[in-house]
Amino acid sequence: MNTAFATNFVYIISSVLFAFGLKFLGSPVTARRGNILSSIGMLLAVLATLFNGHIISFQWIAIGIIIGGSLGALVAFKAAMTQMPEMIALLHGCGAMASVFVDWTAYQVHGTTDLTNAITLYLSIVIGGLTVTGSGIAWGKLSENIPGKPIVFTGQKWLNTALIASIVILGVLFIMHPARYDLFLMILGLSLVFGVFIVIPIGGADMPVVISVLNSYSGIVACTTGFVIHNTLLIVVGSLVGANGMILSIIMCKAMNRSIGNVIFGAFGSVVKKAGGDEKKEAKAMSVEDAFLIIENAKSVVFIPGYGMAVAQAQHAVRELSEFLEKNGCDVKYAIHPVAGRMPGHMNVLLAEANIPYDQLLEMDAINPLMDTVDVAIIIGANDVVNPASRHDKSSPIYGMPIINADKAKTVFVLKRSMATGFAGIENELFYYENTRMIFGDAKQTIQALVAEFKSSQH
Ligand code: TAP
Repeated sequence: MNTAFATNFVYIISSVLFAFGLKFLGSPVTARRGNILSSIGMLLAVLATLFNGHIISFQWIAIGIIIGGSLGALVAFKAAMTQMPEMIALLHGCGAMASVFVDWTAYQVHGTTDLTNAITLYLSIVIGGLTVTGSGIAWGKLSENIPGKPIVFTGQKWLNTALIASIVILGVLFIMHPARYDLFLMILGLSLVFGVFIVIPIGGADMPVVISVLNSYSGIVACTTGFVIHNTLLIVVGSLVGANGMILSIIMCKAMNRSIGNVIFGAFGSVVKKAGGDEKKEAKAMSVEDAFLIIENAKSVVFIPGYGMAVAQAQHAVRELSEFLEKNGCDVKYAIHPVAGRMPGHMNVLLAEANIPYDQLLEMDAINPLMDTVDVAIIIGANDVVNPASRHDKSSPIYGMPIINADKAKTVFVLKRSMATGFAGIENELFYYENTRMIFGDAKQTIQALVAEFKSSQH
C-alpha cells in the first residue's frame, strides 16, 4: 500500500468520523460522543498528514503546535462561559488565517498550475482575507473593545461598492496573469480591508448571526484551500463546516425573524432605548416569601432561562428548586428560546451541566401552545426573548421575533437585578403586566432563597 493511498484512506475515515460527530452534536444526549468522535477524526487526520512524507520541517510544526496549543489552552481555561461567542469569533479568524497562509505558501512555492487553480486560489484569499478581519472586528464588538453599536459614515456604501469592484477587477486580471504577485498582494490587502468595512456597520445584537456566517466562511475557505493544495480532507471538512455554519445562520435568523441579507446589510443593531407599554404603569415587585407561597401551590411551573442565568450561574440552584417543586406534586418544564443567552445552545449547555433531565427541556414551538395552562412562569435573567412587544408593536426593533409566550401563564415571576434592558437595549412591557411580579436580586440568590423557604417549610 503506497503512502498516498494510505493517507487518503485515513482521510476518508476522518471524514466519516466528522460527519457522525456532527450528527451526534445535534442532541445534548449524544453531544459528548459527537465531540469525541470528531476529536479522534482530527487526530487521525493530523497523524496521517505528518506521516505522508512531504513534510519539510518537523521542527517548525512542533514549534507551531507548542505555541498554538499553549495559547489555545490558556485562552480556553481563562475564558468564562459568557465569553464563548467572542472566543468563537477569534477562533474562526485564526482558522481563516491558517488557510490564507497555506494558500500564500502554495502560491509562492508552486505558483498556479492551471485556470481552476488560479480561480480557487483567488476565491480562497478573498473569502479568507475578509473572514480574518471580519472575525477580528466581531471579537472586538462582542468583547466591547470596539463599540457594539453600528459604525456608519457617509459614503460607506460607495466605499464598499468600490472595494468590491476593485477586488473583482483585480481578480479577473490575476486569473489572466496568475504569475503577478503584486495582484495577489493587492487582492489580499483589499479583502482584509473589506472584512473590516463589512462588519463595522453591524450592531452588537446581530453579532451572533455574523459569527455564524463567518464560521461558514471559514469552512468555505478551508474547502477552497483544499482545492488549491489538492487535499481531499480539507475539501470535505471545509464543506461540512461551511454548510453547517450556513444552516445555523438561517436557523438563528428565523428565530429572530430576520433574513441574512437584512442582518448583513441592515443596521438593526442601531437600537436605542425605547420605552415599551404604558409609561404611567409601575412594575410590581414581590418578596421571595410571597413568591414561595404562590409556587408552593402551583401545579405547573415553567422556567424560562436567559442570559442572566448564565451570569448568575444559577443552573444548579434551579435544579434544586425544581426537585422541591416536583416533590410537591408540581409539573416542571424548561422553555428554551433558540437565541436565549449569548450563543446557540447556551441554555441547553448550562442546564445539562446541572443534570436537568433533557425531556424537561422544551423548544419554543413545543412550549408556547402550553403556556396558557401554566400556573407560574419563572423567568430567570431572560429579557428580550420574552418581550411581548415583538408580537404587536410594529415600531419595536424586535417586532416579528418569535418569543416564549411567558405572559400567557397565570402568574409570571421575573428574576433580575434591576429594570435594566437586555441585549437589544429595549424596555420590556411584560414587566408592567397585571400578572407579572418582579423579584429583584441576583438570580442565583433568589432561587437559593426560594429553596431555603421550601426547606424550612418541611421542618
Ligand atoms: P437579555 O435580553 O440579554 O437579558 C438578560 C437579562 O439578564 C438582563 O435584562 C439582566 O437584567 C439580567 N441579568 C444579568 N445578570 C443577572 C443576574 N446575575 N441575575 C439575574 N438577572 C441577571 O437575555 P435573553 O432574554 O437571554 O436574550 C438574549 C439576547 O441576546 C437576544 O437579544 C439575542 O438576540 C442576543 N444574543 C443572542 C445570542 C445567542 S446565539 N443566544 C448571542 C448574542 C446575542 P439586570 O441587569 O436587571 O439583572
